[in-house]
Amino acid sequence: MTNAPMTDSPAQNSAFHGDRLRGILIVDLGAQYTQLIARRVREAGAWSEIHSATKAVEAAQHMDLAGIILSGGPASVYAEGAPQVPDELFRLGVPVLGICYGMQWMCRALGGAVEGGHTREFGHTPLTVDESKGLFQSVPNQSVVWMSHGDKVTRLPAGFQVLAHSADCAFGAVGDPERGFYGVQFHPEVSHTQHGTQLLSNFVIGICGLAGDWKPASIAEHQIQRIKEQVGETGEVILGLSGGVDSSVAAMLMHQAIGDRLHCIFVDNGLLRHGERESIEAMFGQHFGMDLTTVDARDRFLERLAGVTDPEVKRKRIGHEFVEVFREEAKRFTQANFLGQGTLYPDVIESVAEHGGQTAMIKSHHNVGGLPEDLELDLVEPLRELFKDEVRAIGRYLGLHESVLMRQPFPGPGLAVRIVGEVNHERCEMLRRADHIVTSEIEAAGAHHGLWQYFAVLLPLHSVGVMGDARTYEYTCALRLVESTDGMTADWGYLDRGLLRRISSRIVAEVRGFNRVVLDISSKPPATIEWE
Ligand code: XMP
Repeated sequence: MTNAPMTDSPAQNSAFHGDRLRGILIVDLGAQYTQLIARRVREAGAWSEIHSATKAVEAAQHMDLAGIILSGGPASVYAEGAPQVPDELFRLGVPVLGICYGMQWMCRALGGAVEGGHTREFGHTPLTVDESKGLFQSVPNQSVVWMSHGDKVTRLPAGFQVLAHSADCAFGAVGDPERGFYGVQFHPEVSHTQHGTQLLSNFVIGICGLAGDWKPASIAEHQIQRIKEQVGETGEVILGLSGGVDSSVAAMLMHQAIGDRLHCIFVDNGLLRHGERESIEAMFGQHFGMDLTTVDARDRFLERLAGVTDPEVKRKRIGHEFVEVFREEAKRFTQANFLGQGTLYPDVIESVAEHGGQTAMIKSHHNVGGLPEDLELDLVEPLRELFKDEVRAIGRYLGLHESVLMRQPFPGPGLAVRIVGEVNHERCEMLRRADHIVTSEIEAAGAHHGLWQYFAVLLPLHSVGVMGDARTYEYTCALRLVESTDGMTADWGYLDRGLLRRISSRIVAEVRGFNRVVLDISSKPPATIEWE
């Protein structure tokens, strides 16, 4: 039997071919890089979904399945408690690609052998291709791949051949093209592997036969259609718009689907950055013509924060107040029967925690996403299947401005977690002005390109200074500049001396109450990006 490609008809190989999305099932076997596999597959234009090994068979039955990828994982296939790949997955009649642990499991399950302890390959490793068709189509004969393994396959199952090897690994890549089974000992999903994206594309497009049409335009059109179907001819949706990428793109999709039957609610909690409210009103209300209500809740939030200095209490109160304000406002839309949310795919992937166990709670995050459950509204979540980079690409397709799409992350509790200690009107105003100086100077100099975030923090720490001939005793402003790719880890950033000098002088000269500016040079870990 040959598995690949499943069908020659382009229409049937489209991601959007039937009621269910057609694509690749990624089985998470505990690898650090599983989400990266899904993102690479999608960059290749194919839909993919991640599930744990225990849910994989059930997930396969619910998908319009074109192929399976088994991820890597930290365990040894022989170890007690190692994730078990169900045998059924090899009998579904679709191609399977095993990566690292996934390859070892597959080879052993199909009659080969795996052993540990002889060699360890880690990091950049030269790879020689032995079979340049199929999986290695358009991949040069010599390239560098990223290896990270102790165990390795020592005997191939019947029907398998060697596709590539390294100095220490005779079975660097193997396959049984007849059955559509492939394995790679290296990690094609990480950027250190040259041509990794090409290899994954060869698998999903060339071998699984997918059309490669999982692209921003078609995803957007598909989601708009789905919203129309879900909401129907007369349904109405309310959406908490924060101006962040997720809620903005969700609003754009819904607005295109149902027009004025989308009601956006923007809450001004008084903890926003300079000009934020005005620019949201101008863009979504005036420019895009959405039905947008701004709720001025500045006093309410400040009252709730009076006297509060504990960061967690601040976060909880702000989150709670937001829900209250939103609930009251939502009730005014008596016709609304749906609640729109910008939930993303990484928020709904369930499998990761299964292997990773509990992680310590560092900060209780609050987003516009965490809305009241008792409103009895059905959820509309058009981004639920998407990664952030896909959301940006769709936003771009729908005409959202780069300033929204590439906006630096801003926490739900806003400036409150950038004012150490008590939050009050005066401190908010000071920080807003200082922060505006920081961001506008950095952006004007084009220095923001390498930075993930750049902002000001108010420290309620008084120090002595001298201005004119007088003594001052005032607050401290900290500059927080960080480089990061996902906010999970970060390094501190730096600016040229002239720019730092200009920012510092302007803050002290223009914002009354600050007489000192300091630069935060802490990485994450051990510090976090926000101060609270
Ligand atoms: P930390 O401070 O934990 O922040 O290193 C990591 C990233 O998350 C952002 N952040 C938040 N984002 N709601 C959000 O949507 C929140 O409550 C929140 N708190 C922190 C932070 O700006 C950084 O990008």
